[in-house]
Amino acid sequence: MIQFTLNGQSVETDVAGDTPLLWVVRDHFKLKGSKFGCGMGLCGACTMHLNGSAIRTCITPVAAVMNQQVTTIEGLGTPDNLHIVQEAWLQHNVPQCGYCQSGQIMSASALLAQNPNPSDSDIDAAMSGNLCRCGTYPRIRKAIHSAAS
Ligand code: FES
Repeated sequence: MIQFTLNGQSVETDVAGDTPLLWVVRDHFKLKGSKFGCGMGLCGACTMHLNGSAIRTCITPVAAVMNQQVTTIEGLGTPDNLHIVQEAWLQHNVPQCGYCQSGQIMSASALLAQNPNPSDSDIDAAMSGNLCRCGTYPRIRKAIHSAAS
């Protein structure tokens, strides 16, 4: 049995320990906000937080998060109490198709937790692993600056 904390609640699963965390969260715990893009750790669509840091959950075996804290987009804020990054995303109309955006927001919020006032180059470095085929990068950068200020 693998135990971890998911969005503040203790959870257990008996799936094989090498099952990617993304599928455990989506299929077993029915939280569908984190997306599958590449499955190879290259696009960032599956990004969640592990103990506050952004991780690629398509390549993270669930056994690796045993007894640790996992946060998904569903646990970052609530509709009545959005995270400041989610507020900034709305304010700047960041999403286009939206598919990559939960991963973008999870990476952005992890960045701001570690660096409350990032430069453009800090943002580009932190967000370079999150791809957006719609090209929303300029709005992402604006929204991060806005959330930081
Ligand atoms: Fe995990 Fe692309 S789906 S990085």
